[in-house]
Amino acid sequence: MTSEAYMNPTMNVAPQDPAALVRRIADEHRHVPGGLLPALHAVQDALGHVPAEAVEVLAQATNLSRAEVHGVLTYYHHFRTAAPGRHVVQLCQAEACIACGANELAAHAQRRLGCEMHQTRADGAVTLEPVYCLGLCASSPSAQINGRVYARLTPEKLDGILASAGVAP
Ligand code: FES
Repeated sequence: MTSEAYMNPTMNVAPQDPAALVRRIADEHRHVPGGLLPALHAVQDALGHVPAEAVEVLAQATNLSRAEVHGVLTYYHHFRTAAPGRHVVQLCQAEACIACGANELAAHAQRRLGCEMHQTRADGAVTLEPVYCLGLCASSPSAQINGRVYARLTPEKLDGILASAGVAP
């Protein structure tokens, strides 16, 4: 279980022992009714993704089968099963943002970053993901970059934000 690339924007440090961290989160949610989803969120918040090894640990703690945990993990787009790049760029692709230019913004971002949606660039610098509504519909199009939300984006604004976040073209 590794997480060398991802730096949690709230922790700003890479966890030293991901396996121990997953076990601690599993213990905190052991036998808690409905505890699987908050446990998955906690693991991803800490590691940037939910590693395969976490499925067994969380299944035991929540008294579910591995298939059930895997089913929940893969049902929600929010959860990643692979480590993201050092920067995570999430572009809203829901209706209000699409109506205000999110498709064009996504095309620009893919050109500027050199990777497609759902992909991490070969140098591990950045992961580009769609998200489906950030609650900023009145200020579309919006994005979340390294955990911070931005509204009324244009390709030029996005370039400036990426440059100040240190995301190299
Ligand atoms: S549709 Fe993009 S923020 Fe709601």
